[in-house]
Amino acid sequence: MNQPVSRSTWTNRWAFILVTIGSAVGLGNIWKFSYLVGAKGGSAFVLVYLCCVALIGLPLLMAEILIGRRGRGNPVAAMLNTAEETGNSSWWALLGWVGMLGALVILSYYSVVAGWIADYLYQAAIGVRVETAAAAAQAFADLERDPLRMGFWHTVFLALSVGVTARGVVAGIEVANKIMMPSLFLILVLLTVWGAVAGDMPAALHFMYDFKIKALTPGVVLSAMGQAFFSLSLGMGAIMTYGSYLDKEARIGYVSLWVAVAGSLVGLLSGMAIFSLTFGYGLDPSVGPELILQALPLAFAHMPGGQLVAVLFFVFVLFAAWTSAISLLEPFVSWLTERYGIHRAKAAWGTGVPVWLLGLAVCMSFSRWSDFTMFGRNLFDALDQCATNVMMPLSGLAIAIYVGWMMGRAPVRDEMKLGVRAFPLWFNVLRYVVPVGIVLVFFHVLGLLDWLK
Ligand code: PFF
Repeated sequence: MNQPVSRSTWTNRWAFILVTIGSAVGLGNIWKFSYLVGAKGGSAFVLVYLCCVALIGLPLLMAEILIGRRGRGNPVAAMLNTAEETGNSSWWALLGWVGMLGALVILSYYSVVAGWIADYLYQAAIGVRVETAAAAAQAFADLERDPLRMGFWHTVFLALSVGVTARGVVAGIEVANKIMMPSLFLILVLLTVWGAVAGDMPAALHFMYDFKIKALTPGVVLSAMGQAFFSLSLGMGAIMTYGSYLDKEARIGYVSLWVAVAGSLVGLLSGMAIFSLTFGYGLDPSVGPELILQALPLAFAHMPGGQLVAVLFFVFVLFAAWTSAISLLEPFVSWLTERYGIHRAKAAWGTGVPVWLLGLAVCMSFSRWSDFTMFGRNLFDALDQCATNVMMPLSGLAIAIYVGWMMGRAPVRDEMKLGVRAFPLWFNVLRYVVPVGIVLVFFHVLGLLDWLK
């Protein structure tokens, strides 16, 4: 077996649930989810997203935790250990590599976007207000054109994330999540109530839940599926690594259910808060990625107590991003410490450096280096497309095939500890529904399904 090191374990099951929710809930659930709901027809997107979380996300989440816990190691070691145990080729370790490196690529630009949020938090805290839509657009354009300012906040955010990871699994990651996640839930509830009072909650509810069959196009179905993937942190080794610190007795199905439900709930609640304000202040929900950075500051500027709400909102988004960033670092850091015995703090800071440099290049890609493109996209877009639309679905597909078809029923059943009815249900969904779903997303991304539209 690979690396029979003594491994940390979360202090209890709830700690695991909390940190995994911390990984799942991030910019994806708040920033991406809200602008996608806004741009993709509201309720139809929400409904399909929830179905995808249940039918693809949840089964895959369980499979990824299973590999981590069975393999008891970083993504590469966990794949090697389980492959050896089940008589599979050690080439499967490639899956661990794709995940670990993909996570670092995501972190490089994720940290830049989180840096935008930190900048907006700072602006809100010092009392900067944008009164008109033109001023809001200008404020964002100014930030985009200023690589130094963007690079500064990217550096601060990344250093904070590395700092937590360097402190260790329990003392760093678990403690940080135990403080940030409950605060995040509290702020979210406050914001939703505020949204209901200051904004137009009935319009938000109508937009998000009043299902219209006409809005249900193949494009909506497929982008909702991609979003389910990203928002549950699947396929990047993060969940696998967290799962490797889970105690042997915990029921994987049960803890995964908690994570999927809580993750979706945060998306839905923040969507309700964001759309109440968007509609309440007569703004357009379909503006795209700038929804929370342009529409919301405008709403905050016109609301009584708006500065406080703005600060709370950006703290909320920042906490969510921070706990996700930590989980993106952990797979590679755990590999360095377990494979080479490198001290955790050194491994964490050492991992941070290349991510930081790539992130600085991302900061430049909006202004001075915007001429440098790959497939017609600037570096930021190219990295996002490559990691979330190529690496994530492919490694998710590989996980479904590995656990569903390669490991064999007996070890999987033994590790999963599901009931006699629940096990075959999950196993068959993993074997058939998940791969078919992912292949559809992937073809969509490659543009092969355009004829469906
Ligand atoms: N799930 C996170 C979000 O929604 O923002 C992003 C993420 C974290 C993706 C960790 C992948 C990952 F491994």
